Parts: sequence; C-alpha cells; structure tokens
Amino acid sequence: MGKIILTGDRPTGRLHIGHYVGSLRRRVELQNSGKYEKIFIMIADAQALTDNADNPDKIRDNIIEVALDYMSAGLDPEKSVLFIQSQISELTELTFYYMNLVTVQRLQRNPTVKQEIQFRGYSDHAEEADNKAGIPVGFFCYPISQASDITAFKADIVPVGEDQIPMIEQAREIVRKFNSTYGETLVEPQALLPDNSACMRLPGTDGKSKMSKSLGNCIYLADSAEEVWQKVRGMYTDPLHIQVSDPGHVEGNTVFTYLDAFCKDEHFEKYGDCFHGRKVSFDFHNLEEVKEQYRKGGLGDMMIKTFLNAVLNDVLEPIRQRRKELEQNIPYVYDVLKKGSEIARAAAAETLADVKRAMRINYFEDKELIAAQAEKYSL
Ligand code: TRP
Repeated sequence: MGKIILTGDRPTGRLHIGHYVGSLRRRVELQNSGKYEKIFIMIADAQALTDNADNPDKIRDNIIEVALDYMSAGLDPEKSVLFIQSQISELTELTFYYMNLVTVQRLQRNPTVKQEIQFRGYSDHAEEADNKAGIPVGFFCYPISQASDITAFKADIVPVGEDQIPMIEQAREIVRKFNSTYGETLVEPQALLPDNSACMRLPGTDGKSKMSKSLGNCIYLADSAEEVWQKVRGMYTDPLHIQVSDPGHVEGNTVFTYLDAFCKDEHFEKYGDCFHGRKVSFDFHNLEEVKEQYRKGGLGDMMIKTFLNAVLNDVLEPIRQRRKELEQNIPYVYDVLKKGSEIARAAAAETLADVKRAMRINYFEDKELIAAQAEKYSL
C-alpha cells in the first residue's frame, strides 16, 4: 500500500507566503510526484471555531479564500482530496473517544497550546477567568481533535510547519495508546518539515516575528504586484547598513531570509539585471555571491529589494492568474469542496468503524455478542 498524506489549515484569513514556503509549495510537489496513494487537504474550520466561537462568519467567509489559495497555488482536485473538516462528523466522534486516552496534564504541557493560550490572553487561573476570558474547553482539546483528523485518514505523512510538531507528537502518543489498549488499529503519523530554516519560520516583513494577520506584516498569495512591491520596499533589513558602502549583515536581515526561501540560481539568469545600476553594477550568479558582496559593503538595499520583488513576482504571478480565473467560477470551487468532503467522509467512516470494533462498541454488528449473552442467560 502506498503512503497517505493529510494536512490542513485553519480558515481564519487568506494564506500568505509563509504558508506557501512552509507547507503549500511542498504539498504541490508531493501531489505532483505521483508517489502517494492519497492526499487529503483539509480546511480546518472546526478547529478554527475553537477560538472563534463568537465569530462564525469570519470562518464561513474564509473557507472560499483558503480554497482559492489552495487551488491557485497548484493543488489539483483531480489529484488531491480538498475538503472541509466540519462536514466530516466522524472526526468529532473519534475525538470523543481519544479524549479518554489523554490527560489534562499532558495537554497543559503541549508547548504550542501553551503559547497560543498566552498569545490569546486566556487566563488559566480559575479565579481570574471570571473576569478575563478563560480557556475554552474545545480549544484546550484541539490537539486531540487534530489527532482525529490525522488518524481518520490513516495518514502516514503530515507536511506541516515547525509549530505543529507538538501536535504530531501528541497524535503519535494517542495512536500508541490506542493500539496498545485496544489492539493494532491506527497508523502512527510522521511530520514532514520544510527543507530549510528560512522556510520553517518565514518572518514577517517587519523582521520581528512570524507572519501574522494581526501584526499586519504579511505578504498574501492574493496580493497584487503593486501591493507586494510596497511591502518589499518597506521591509526590514540591517539597521547597521546605513551607507551603501557600509558592510552589511545577512543574518537576521529579512530580505535575505526571504531570498533564502524563494531564490533559485535560475532567477539570476532572469532577473540579474536588477543588479546593474547607473553607479555600480554586479554580475551575480547565485545568492552566495550576493551575500558575500553585501557583507563587504557597496551593495545597496534597494537593489536587493528590486531583485527580491522580481523573484517573488516570478512565483506569485502564475498563482494570481489562476486565482483570477477561479474567482470567475466560485460555484465550481464549492462543488470541489463538496465532492472532496464526500470522499473524505467515506474514508473517515471506515476508520471510525475500525475504532468502534476495536473498542468493542460495535454491538449490533457483532452477532456473536448477542448469541453469547443469550447463552449466558439461558444456563
Ligand atoms: N493546526 C493546523 C494549523 O493551525 C491546522 C490543522 C488542523 C492540521 N488539523 C490538522 C494540520 C491536521 C495538519 C494535520 O494550521
């Protein structure tokens, strides 16, 4: 049997280039490699609701945004199953049973949950939580629900960003616990991480932290060429590189981090003339040469930004074009999600049946149970 892939995103906003290099680009490669038996890509609306219960319209409106981003980035409904989490009720049912295999203490130790609790300003003190927002139980348990997402599809491989490692670890523990308690039933998944550290954690255009909508430091897949240029132009570089002639720092310099994530040698053939200025002119063949020159001094930020902008547009323009076409056919996109959800539901139902059998709660399916009980009472 070939390997199965599952991954997904919360529909809380449009996808940005951090999503792209962190996971989306890899998914498309995996999809097109033809090496996998099945690929499931999930819009995790139920998970998004765990901390947006009061704002369902935000989630509702972003389903189509994420679907458009997926398909314009190259996810192909002929090759991958694109579906919506909430439409697969089997997932909630699995979660309820897995909850018995996880302790409150174990959830509290999950570093991603811890971080998110802090970030969202939830209080974890019972007394305080009356005034301040407490932790919603559903939110607290979402790692368990994520284990259901993964195991329902018998996924071997889960392509995700670094922040999701604790979720995969938790899912693996649940699988081991389930299998040792009820017999070999579930598949233990593995995370597949981005291939370099720039892709792992692409900083925002401010250079400070991860791209996040609330910080306003994102470049979106759907941004126009003009919007991208404005954001690139304002990007954080090296505060010590004041004069062009000053030696510059490459590490922690956002423009270079973005180039690490996006730039390929072929971009120098296509856009090398961004480095041909009126006063100075360079003939670079690869990113290493650019970095070397920047460290020495003499290479201005504007030149590199112009080049980065060209590289980004090289990647984003085809995505933009496909998005425009898909935007003209929104009912088709919803239809893709509906058909995908039907396929996903059938797959999850099989696993749920396996789980119920293993947990011995398949009463009516089990003819022997009734016969055995009848016999017991006939003695
Ligand atoms: N937690 C993921 C995120 O925040 C989304 C997600 C939900 C997911 N279920 C998943 C990712 C299962 C991988 C596998 O982006």
